[in-house]
Amino acid sequence: MMIGIDKMGFATPKYQLKMADLAQARGVDPNKYSEGLLLDALSIAPITEDIITLAASAAQDILTEEDKAAIDMVIVATESSVDQSKAAAVYVHSLLDIQPFARSFEVKEACYSATAALNYAKLHVEKSPQSRVLVLASDIAKYGIGSAGESTQGAGSLAMLITSNPRLLAFQDDNVAQTRDIMDFWRPNYSETPFVNGMYSTKQYLDSLTTTWAEYQKRSGKELTDFAAFCFHLPFPKLALKGLNKLINKGISEEKKEQLLDNFAHSITYSKQVGNIYTGSLYLGLLSLLENAKTLKAGDQIGLFSYGSGAVSEIFSLKLMPDFDQQLQTQRQASLDQRQTLTVAQYETLFFEETKLDETGSREFAHYASNAFRLTGIKEHQRQYSKVSRNDN
Ligand code: CAA
Repeated sequence: MMIGIDKMGFATPKYQLKMADLAQARGVDPNKYSEGLLLDALSIAPITEDIITLAASAAQDILTEEDKAAIDMVIVATESSVDQSKAAAVYVHSLLDIQPFARSFEVKEACYSATAALNYAKLHVEKSPQSRVLVLASDIAKYGIGSAGESTQGAGSLAMLITSNPRLLAFQDDNVAQTRDIMDFWRPNYSETPFVNGMYSTKQYLDSLTTTWAEYQKRSGKELTDFAAFCFHLPFPKLALKGLNKLINKGISEEKKEQLLDNFAHSITYSKQVGNIYTGSLYLGLLSLLENAKTLKAGDQIGLFSYGSGAVSEIFSLKLMPDFDQQLQTQRQASLDQRQTLTVAQYETLFFEETKLDETGSREFAHYASNAFRLTGIKEHQRQYSKVSRNDN
């Protein structure tokens, strides 16, 4: 029995910041961002958009009523959680009206956690082939104004429906993971923004890639030539390109190299415009590849490198199913283009707006453009959500 990803959905905030504008405001050469990081724009979330509204909107994009009646597990993977106790998945389950006899919970290990969630979903469907599991990778990446990481922020959510006999991609049971206890990026409970050893984190990313890849090759017997494309965790696309170049060895044909580099370019198309969405970024790369590459065909294998600071990494592969192209959208670029462009001053106000509650623990938020759901406020310390109607933006 094959198990895999049946459908993928994506949501990102309705606002963007152009990197050229940020460069000018910070007195940086714009080529540093466009060429040095391979970034053109970042998605910016207003206070009414959080990991829950983004996750529910990404799922709303793909789920049918039949799916909602069959889903028996909802997993939200995130490192920008809104509550230390209540799982974001419980809110999402409610917003989407999923049938009640489901397990809903949240998982964490920096940008790696969505990969762990997919593994758990696969085990569940293996035991219970009629089940459908909704995996959501949802994050808002915020480093702070003027910080070194400011250029690698972003926000967005990927929704993946895991089923038996998937129509999009099948798991191939070849996963190899690695854990190493390091301090490259972390966010203690008392801090709104992460602590980062930037240069060290990029070295750890690349070293985790090459060492996990060596072990993966040893255990699976696969070579780079077995893959039509390789997708990477994308904190910023340039780092992933460095990663791909480390895997491309001298023995590889020019034709294969060209295919891998061409497909890599398709895999970063969306992230270049959205920025880092932490645990969803690998899967945004996968979606971008599928929706933009022209030469992929059924049976092709796609390699994936997942990396979460701290650090856990994993390499595994997926196989494209027959008719996979019928599961894909064609309107994605148009909706990215429709995002409202913010000035740097507007971005600073919007992205870093703080929740100032009154003495009852309440506050209503101002109106901002949102996806399918909106955080309207907080009432006696309880988050209040509503569905966004068509004329509401
Ligand atoms: N024209 C073209 N390129 C230029 C340039 C110019 N005028 N000026 C600089 N560059 C290039 C630099 O040469 C460099 O490229 P190379 O690495 O290939 O040499 C690139 O632009 C970036 O320049 P710097 O290294 O000087 O940039 P920085 O000091 O601003 O730091 C960063 C970059 C470390 C990534 C920083 O943005 C950061 O700390 N980001 C957050 C941490 C992060 O994303 N780490 C990634 C691994 S950890 C992870 O993967 C988990 C996660 O999601 C966070």
